[in-house]
Amino acid sequence: MARTGSIRRKTRRRSATSRAQRADRYALYQRSVQSPEFDASFIDRVYRKEYGSPPMLLREDFCGTAAISCAFVASRRGRRAIGIDIDPEPLAWGREHNVAALPEARRGLVRLIEADVRDVMRPRADVVCAMNFSYCVFKTRDELRGYFEAARANLRRKGVLVLDVVGGPETQEEDTEETRTVGRGIRYVWEQKRFDPVSYNARFAIHFLFDDGSALHHAFEYDWRLWTIPEIRELLLEAGFRRADVYWEETDSETGEGNGRYRKVREAEADPAWVACIAAIR
Ligand SMILES: C[S@@+](CC[C@H](N)C(=O)[O-])C[C@H]1O[C@@H](n2cnc3c(N)ncnc32)[C@H](O)[C@@H]1O
Repeated sequence: MARTGSIRRKTRRRSATSRAQRADRYALYQRSVQSPEFDASFIDRVYRKEYGSPPMLLREDFCGTAAISCAFVASRRGRRAIGIDIDPEPLAWGREHNVAALPEARRGLVRLIEADVRDVMRPRADVVCAMNFSYCVFKTRDELRGYFEAARANLRRKGVLVLDVVGGPETQEEDTEETRTVGRGIRYVWEQKRFDPVSYNARFAIHFLFDDGSALHHAFEYDWRLWTIPEIRELLLEAGFRRADVYWEETDSETGEGNGRYRKVREAEADPAWVACIAAIR
């Protein structure tokens, strides 16, 4: 009797909360839009190609939960990372989940700092990265050039700044949604709420929908300027970088979709929606 009673209590408790209420938005975000091991290995490849040795100190600007910092430190003995974000909440989540998941001896090799990325100068790193388009919070040329100057000042003599860029005509539409399944009974939704062709300012949101009908609406929201590749490259050179190389995703000949391999290009096809990477050489 006692056992039946406890099972009933558990069943009642479980149905009292929806999947959305039990969900962890940072875990869902990482699963849906991040590939930290891929990013760490891309950073490694670009740096080695330029300088012939592996990068050992990474500075992850706009680090959020510091997933790339942790993947970088996990990928090779002796590597260190510094993650900087203005919001204490993702930093705390990153400490509790990503840093804590590292082998004990490596946990002290990731340092997380709560600050504006433009206010933390030193130590100089081999690579500074700013991923998932985070620098798009800077909406004027002066602001973005100022950030690139700060990033360059935070690089060692042999240094690379790695960024990703999103574009294509589909990113300039509004009231559109892209959805995909990111776990059992979980749909990820990327909503383009607004695109202003005069300023190129755009607003986006991430939602998560669950198979019990519940939802985490506006789990994340972004208010960005969509910068083009030529604008970014020009500003990088104005900020003092020697070169700004563009890496474009190869196309799988069977599916016509990107295959996850990026190579350096001088020109590319006019895809309706694309994500490219830029490596700026100090
Ligand atoms: C799009 S998320 C990117 C998180 C992570 N880098 C990734 O790859 O998914 C942007 C992050 O930038 C942070 N952020 C925005 N402005 C910032 C600033 N000026 N300095 C530091 N962090 C900033 C936000 O708190 C947020 O965590």
